[in-house]
Amino acid sequence: MKNIILKEDKGIAEITINRPKSLNALNSETLKELGTVIEDISQRKDIQAVIITGSGDKAFVAGADIVEMQNLNAVQGRELAMLAQKVFSDIEHMPQVVIAAVNGYALGGGCELSMACDIRLASKNAKFGQPEVGLGITPGFAGTQRLPRLVGKGTAKELIFTTDMIDAEEAHRIQLANKVYEQEELMDKAREMAKKIMSKGIYAVSLAKSAINNGMNMDTESAYSYEADIFGLCFSTEDQKEGMKAFIEKRKPNFKGC
Ligand code: CAA
Repeated sequence: MKNIILKEDKGIAEITINRPKSLNALNSETLKELGTVIEDISQRKDIQAVIITGSGDKAFVAGADIVEMQNLNAVQGRELAMLAQKVFSDIEHMPQVVIAAVNGYALGGGCELSMACDIRLASKNAKFGQPEVGLGITPGFAGTQRLPRLVGKGTAKELIFTTDMIDAEEAHRIQLANKVYEQEELMDKAREMAKKIMSKGIYAVSLAKSAINNGMNMDTESAYSYEADIFGLCFSTEDQKEGMKAFIEKRKPNFKGC
């Protein structure tokens, strides 16, 4: 991999977008590499949580690569959007929990990448924004869809139409960032959260992720029914038996993830 660093430790995969000279901008090569890494990790039972971050202390990802995009034609623009949308959708649907550790600029495609993750933790110097209309384009890595779902239609329109960059505190206020930390502690906090989630019934976590992600794309009655199916499925797992037995025996559960 040229532009992605992958580290693994005790069930946590840390993916770093590594193009610091371009503030980790996503060119198509990087998107393809990211896609390959995501596909591989999705198959892995020994990896239970994923953290995505950017190289250096200035940027998470400063957007799609403007140098690469400047001479695209309409067909190539659409292909780029579809490539990124597929990779981000694969991230959203990974069986593992995915935490974005937003350590600086998360602009355009960077903000869109963070929104494909389950949880966004930001450092105090993080800046979020969708600058695309200032470049004469629209957000194309699913920002027009994920942003309104996360922060509401009005706020999403304001951010996209004005291109205003917001700081981590404001991102937290509008619920774009789940939590804000000092930059030096961001990765430790992300690992801490990953470990906390991994200490639960991890298969149930994965099912809850599916219930939320898929249910939100259904009408409410279908979503309730889908939730009931998933809830029922839990009663065929060892973790449900162990979790409830441990509660009754007043001890910590020993989950197996199945
Ligand atoms: N694409 C390509 N290169 C980029 C880049 C990007 N998105 N963002 C930054 N860079 C490059 C700069 O060109 C510069 O390269 P050189 O040293 O070769 O000149 C280097 O990274 C450092 O950047 P700056 O000198 O600009 O750093 P700064 O601290 O002055 O500013 C910044 C930081 C505010 C993030 C500024 O770089 C910037 O505005 N970047 C572009 C942000 C942007 O518009 N992103 C959206 C892209 S469009 C998109 O993402 C579409 C979509 O929906 C997917």
